[in-house]
Amino acid sequence: FVHQLADESVGMDQLLRSPLRLEAMPGLPLPPALYGAQRQNSLGLDLAVDAMRAPLLQAHAATPVPPVALAETAQVDAQVRRALAAHPAWDGLPVPERAQRLRSAADRMQDALPRLAALLVKEAFKTWGDAVAEVREAVDFLRYYADEAVRIMQPVELPGPTGESNELRLASRGAWVCISPWNFPLAIFTGQVAAALATGNTVLAKPAEQTPAIAAEAVALLHAAGVPADALQLLHGPGETIGAALVAHPRIAGVVFTGSTPVAKAINLSLAQKDGPIVPLIAETGGINAMIVDSTALPEQVADCVVQSAFRSAGQRCSALRLLCVHEGIADAVIEMIQGAAREQVTGDPHEWRTDVGPVIDGEAYENIQRQLTRLHAQARPLLPPGDQPPATRLVPPQAFEIADIGEVRQEIFGPVLHVVRWRGDPKGVVDQLNALGYGLTLGIQSRIDTRALALAARAHIGNVYVNRNIIGAVVGVQPFGGEGLSGTGPKAGGPNYLLRFCAERTLTINT
Ligand code: NAD
Ligand code: ALA
Repeated sequence: FVHQLADESVGMDQLLRSPLRLEAMPGLPLPPALYGAQRQNSLGLDLAVDAMRAPLLQAHAATPVPPVALAETAQVDAQVRRALAAHPAWDGLPVPERAQRLRSAADRMQDALPRLAALLVKEAFKTWGDAVAEVREAVDFLRYYADEAVRIMQPVELPGPTGESNELRLASRGAWVCISPWNFPLAIFTGQVAAALATGNTVLAKPAEQTPAIAAEAVALLHAAGVPADALQLLHGPGETIGAALVAHPRIAGVVFTGSTPVAKAINLSLAQKDGPIVPLIAETGGINAMIVDSTALPEQVADCVVQSAFRSAGQRCSALRLLCVHEGIADAVIEMIQGAAREQVTGDPHEWRTDVGPVIDGEAYENIQRQLTRLHAQARPLLPPGDQPPATRLVPPQAFEIADIGEVRQEIFGPVLHVVRWRGDPKGVVDQLNALGYGLTLGIQSRIDTRALALAARAHIGNVYVNRNIIGAVVGVQPFGGEGLSGTGPKAGGPNYLLRFCAERTLTINT
C-alpha cells in the first residue's frame, strides 16, 4: 500500500487525512414543504419516494399522455412578433410581482407532483426516483430564480467622485428562445423558461420533440399562475426546422440551449451569420465525464458512486460518468465491486417500482448506443455481461469496458456505458489528459488525501468537481451546474450568476 502511494508521489504526512465516509447522502425523507430549502441531492430521495408510492401509482393510472399540436415554420415569425408585443407589459411589472407569479407556479407544480412524475415516467421513461427528483428540481428552479431576480434587479448606486450621480441597473433584453432536451424535459425546460421570465423577458420555448406533453403541462401551470399567454409561447416540432427558424429570426434577443455539442455549435454559427444585433447564447452541452480514483480510496464507496453516476437514468444525464480512471493498485478490487454492484441493478420497465435502469429514449438512441457497443466489444475488454434484452424494449443493461488509454474515448456515449482505464504514477498527469479531451462538465475525485483531492480539483478545467461522492444530481442553488470548453458557455444554471446573462446592463449618469 505504502509502495503504491510512493508511486503516486504522496508523502506519508498526507496519508489518510480524509475520514472514511461510505454514505455521502443520507436518504432521509423530507417534509414536502422544504423543496426550495433542500440540501440533499436527488439521490438521497429514495425513501421519500417510497413514502409517496400510493399517490404516485394512483396518478400513473389516471394520467394519459396528451397529444400536442405541432408548430409550422410559417408561424414562427408571427409568434416572435407576439412575444415582442407582450414584452413591455411583462417587463413593466415590478420584479417582486413577476417573482410572485413564478412562486405561484412553483406551488402549483409541487401540488401536481404525482401527476407530473407519472407523465415523466410515461413520456420520458424515467424511473420513479428520477421522476420525483425532477419535479422537485423544477420547483426549485422556479423558486430560486424568483428570489434571484428580486435580489439582482435592484438598481445599484455607484460612486460619484466627479459630482455626478451614477447608477447601474439590469434590464430585460426582449424575446428569448429556450431550447431544451428530452433528458430533463421538465427541470431544464422549466429552469430556462423561469430564468428568462424572472428577468422580464418574454419566451418562445421549443422543447425536445420526444417529450412535448410534459413541457405543455409546465406551460399550462405557468399560465395559470399569471404568466400571460403571449409572454410564454410553446412551439412543438423538430429542432432542425422550428428550432432553427427561431434561432435565425432577426428579432430575438437571446438563446438558451441545452443539448448536444454539435447542435450548440450549429446554433452559434446561425446566430453569428444572421443580420441584426449580436445575440447572446447560453449553451449547456455534453461531456466526457471522469472519476479519478487513487489507491487510498475506499473501493466500496467508489463502486457505489460509480454505479449511481454511470448507470442511473440509464446513463442519460449530461453529468453521467463515462470514464473511470482507477489507480492500478486497487483497480482489480474496484472493478470486482462494480461488477457486483452492477449485477444488483434492475434493468426493466420504468413503470415498475423496482426498476433502476429504464429504456433509452428512442430507437435512434438505442441504435447509436448499439453501434458504440459493437465497436467497444471489438476493441476493449468487456467487464459486464451484455444482457439479452430484445431491441424492441430499448433496454441497455449497464455495460463497462476496460480500455488502455484515456485518449481512446473520443465522444459522449449517451447511455449506461462506462470506460475503465488504469493509471499509475502522478494523478496530475491523468487530469492533464482529461483536460486535453476538451470537455469540462463533471469530474469525480476519490481519495482520502485532502491535499491531493484539492490539487487535482484546482488543476481540472471542469465546471463541477465532486470529491468522494457521486457526480450527478446537482442541487439548484447549492451546486450551480454547467461546464466549459466543449461542454458549454456558462453561466451555471441554478447559480447566482445565471440570470445576469439574460439581462442587459445599463448605467445612468446624471450631472447634478
Ligand atoms: P439535441 O442537441 O439533439 O437536442 C436538444 C434540443 O435542440 C432539442 O429540443 C432539439 O429539438 C433542438 N435542436 C436540434 N437541432 C436543432 C437546430 N439545428 N437548431 C435549433 N434547435 C435544434 O440533444 P438531445 O439529444 O435532446 O439531448 C442530449 C444531449 O444534451 C446530450 O449531449 C447531453 O449531454 C446534453 N445535455 C446537457 C445538459 C447540460 O446541462 N450541460 C443537460 C442535459 C443534456
Ligand atoms: N443537473 C443534472 C445533474 O447534475 C444534469 O445530474
